[in-house]
Amino acid sequence: MQFPQYRMRRLRKNETLRRLVRETTLSVDDLIYPLFAIEGAGIRNEISSMPGCYQLSVENLVEEVKKVQSLEIPAVLLFGLPAAKDEAASGAYDENGIVQKAVRALKASVPGILVITDVCLCEYTSHGHCGVIKDGEVLNDVTLELLAKTALSHAEAGADIVAPSDMMDGRVSAIRSQLDEEGFADTPIMAYSAKHASSFYGPFREAAESAPSFGDRRSYQMDPANGNEAVREAALDIEEGADIVMVKPALAALDLIWRIKQEFGYPTAAYNVSGEYSMVKAAASKGWLDEKKAVLELLTGVKRAGADMILTYHAKDAARWLK
Ligand code: PBG
Repeated sequence: MQFPQYRMRRLRKNETLRRLVRETTLSVDDLIYPLFAIEGAGIRNEISSMPGCYQLSVENLVEEVKKVQSLEIPAVLLFGLPAAKDEAASGAYDENGIVQKAVRALKASVPGILVITDVCLCEYTSHGHCGVIKDGEVLNDVTLELLAKTALSHAEAGADIVAPSDMMDGRVSAIRSQLDEEGFADTPIMAYSAKHASSFYGPFREAAESAPSFGDRRSYQMDPANGNEAVREAALDIEEGADIVMVKPALAALDLIWRIKQEFGYPTAAYNVSGEYSMVKAAASKGWLDEKKAVLELLTGVKRAGADMILTYHAKDAARWLK
């Protein structure tokens, strides 16, 4: 039926009607808050390109996660900044490494909240790449062993979910078999499946002090131009045993969230990354955007695209606004 018989505006007349026909609901249950744990004591460094986000030493991290839990956010994602870096990324799989210590402290002091750990080497390597380097190349298969060791050490510390973000081939199955062999068959893997080599990770690299010292990540992260390849990446991760697949970034890859959710029907996460956060914060600080409206619209858009959960630095604000 067409105008004038049918008028779309009839159902937009007032907020009660709009509520009734609203298709997508953003909830605090959908949110995961990323945090940066740093070696040391008494540290709370604001990240200049990510206002409102901090590098936190473990005792401050615990206080922060208590606040996150009081907002009813179900999960945090942990990144680590070690005291020292080397070629072998030994801080990544040290049982007394920064993430391992942070996980143990959180499990002891803030039980209940889910602790997801990012599994990657770039924060721990002296060169800032996500794998072992030989002759200027990032080696795939050698890196798998270190990633599996890292994931195992996180699980041993008490991590609820491990999340490999390195984009090496075969890492999900390497991690799955290591966890299974060592008695962690019940620890889920959230795989960064479709991860573009994106310019929007810039602020994160300041936060995590993990920018590569030479070259870039384009030999392992995906070309942002590719969508079919993203679907194949997700298919492989699922075959290898991923429990949750992730698309990253979120706002620049809404189509991939949609495609991967439609194709597999798997629990699908979207990472609203650092640069996407910083853009909104910068515009809002200049008064160019209404921050609350912009954030809720963007996060709702990510859900409408098919995400079941959203990793976002806006999580605390969004949780407050959704109350
Ligand atoms: C580690 C990792 C990165 C992010 C998550 N895990 C950085 C990168 O790949 O360079 C980016 C997160 C963000 O930008 O918020 N490999």
